[in-house]
Amino acid sequence: MENLSQSRRKFISTLILLLASGGLLVRYLTPVTSGKRRVLVSAAAADVPPGGALVFRAERLVLMKGDTGFYALSLICTHLGCTVTVTEDALLCPCHGSRFDRLGKVLSGPANRSLMHMQVEVRGEKIEIIG
Ligand code: FES
Repeated sequence: MENLSQSRRKFISTLILLLASGGLLVRYLTPVTSGKRRVLVSAAAADVPPGGALVFRAERLVLMKGDTGFYALSLICTHLGCTVTVTEDALLCPCHGSRFDRLGKVLSGPANRSLMHMQVEVRGEKIEIIG
């Protein structure tokens, strides 16, 4: 009888431990975002010069107009996270000299990954960069 009681206690404590671990694992693997779309910045379409760029320095984003429409890039360098500078024909990282083309592709390192493309939504005359 004593042995059966100990066995039951051990089973229940193991079950509680597994449930708690599973709950923590699910919480750890679930994204922090609520799944709602979040507008990071918005601008008037007319404010983006053709072939130019509209830089949001504080948000570290750039909105550009290409041949196929508007697109946005993160200005966070994929090497070590410095803020990339937008020039007329390229994007340059002042920290270690990585260069990216206007679509965010690496032209020269040390960065070896493209700049992150952000989701853009055009709502009439307003353009929103979504995060
Ligand atoms: S952080 Fe941009 S090149 Fe190093």
